[in-house]
Amino acid sequence: MAELADAQGGEKAGRRALSTGFFVSGTDTGIGKTRVGCALIRAMRARQIPIVGMKPVASGAYSTSNGLRNEDAEALIAACGYSGDYTDINPHVFAEPIAPHLAVLESSMSISTARIRAAHSRLAMGNRLVLVEGVGGWLAPLGDSLMQSDIVRALDLQVILVVGMRLGCINHALLTSRAIEADGCRLIGWIANRIDPDMLRFEDNRRSIQQRIQAPLLGTVEYAEDPQASNHAGSLDTAIEILTSQARQIHQQE
Ligand SMILES: Nc1ncnc2c1ncn2[C@@H]1O[C@H](COP(=O)(O)OP(=O)(O)OP(=O)(O)O)[C@@H](O)[C@H]1O
Ligand SMILES: [Mg+2]
Repeated sequence: MAELADAQGGEKAGRRALSTGFFVSGTDTGIGKTRVGCALIRAMRARQIPIVGMKPVASGAYSTSNGLRNEDAEALIAACGYSGDYTDINPHVFAEPIAPHLAVLESSMSISTARIRAAHSRLAMGNRLVLVEGVGGWLAPLGDSLMQSDIVRALDLQVILVVGMRLGCINHALLTSRAIEADGCRLIGWIANRIDPDMLRFEDNRRSIQQRIQAPLLGTVEYAEDPQASNHAGSLDTAIEILTSQARQIHQQE
């Protein structure tokens, strides 16, 4: 498939060591990173490919007797059937649903790339693919001098951009793809997520992005009230092929 060849065969990818996983970023907060990430994880599990989801930094959590818990992290845990330590999936969690760098300021705790990397390595043991969900959009800061691109580079992740398909998404998608490349990270493709069922000219908008963005379209997730329905759309096949191929390569390298 041409899209797949594009995504895997680039000169850039060929020159670099094998990446250990994927980073799911988005055009904004609330545009479907978790929905799409969980759908990908479930699809991989259905293929018997070991995979785990990770949310390294999350703001917005509720208290339990075991500490704070974030809904995205819990959704990823449920999707991948993980039964290990919560803090490996979500090493940094803040109670208030505010921008992470503000949560950091308030809590007087800082986000540690080393801690995230250690958790990621534990999750990746046994050749497990790790699907890492970002926070908000690409340029949402994690601290005074820490950006999400620092995590992506530290973990050597390939970026998948979820585009929340609604009015304004062409601008958001193109700006985000430029920013990812400018930060020296690898955008391997984008997924159109139909977040707004009433969006006018959906196909024209998707095509407009496709014509202007360098990375290939890896799939489309239709609008569905039931999150489980996003698993069965069958339109994430290209993304799933990329993840599967990566899993095979990691396995062969061992
Ligand atoms: N394809 C879709 N069809 C219907 N609803 C959707 C779809 N994608 C996402 N949603 C809904 O939109 C809301 C936001 O989605 P989601 O939590 O996946 O976004 P996010 O980008 O992960 O947000 P955050 O920035 O908080 O991590 C959720 O209620 C989700 O169920
Ligand atoms: Mg999310």
